[in-house]
Amino acid sequence: MTRPTRRHPRACLVRLAVALVTVSACASAAALDIQLPPETATLHPGTGTQSAAMCLMCHSVDYLSSQPPMPLGFWDAEVKKMVGTYGAPIPAEQVPLIVQYLNQAYPPPQPVASPKP
Ligand code: HEC
Repeated sequence: MTRPTRRHPRACLVRLAVALVTVSACASAAALDIQLPPETATLHPGTGTQSAAMCLMCHSVDYLSSQPPMPLGFWDAEVKKMVGTYGAPIPAEQVPLIVQYLNQAYPPPQPVASPKP
């Protein structure tokens, strides 16, 4: 009587490991398949749009454009917050250019003219 051939246990473990790695690689590839809608909005025109385009590495244009008119000083504080708190990799010399652009392209609310007596 012949003994059934037995595979070496280590060979089985290696096959199991390869199978698990393959399955997990496929699963993570599928999870990363994210389709974002194309950007349709554009930054308001003005001097400094190229500098402000650095903001778009994290936000859509709409995210900036949909802010209501903010008081003077808002954009200065906002850009510094993005760099200081959220770690936006924006070179220091670009910060004043971006603030200047945002103040001009997304200005504070205009004072409402008082009715004539
Ligand atoms: C590194 C990524 C990153 C970059 C680059 C970035 N931001 Fe942000 N921004 C954030 C995060 C995170 C929030 C908070 C979002 C939330 O609360 O849902 C935020 C929020 C905002 C908000 C909403 C108000 C607030 O304070 O939460 C505005 C306006 C804004 N960012 C403007 C800008 C501008 C202008 C720039 C370019 C100077 C910029 N962001 C660059 C990450 C970034």
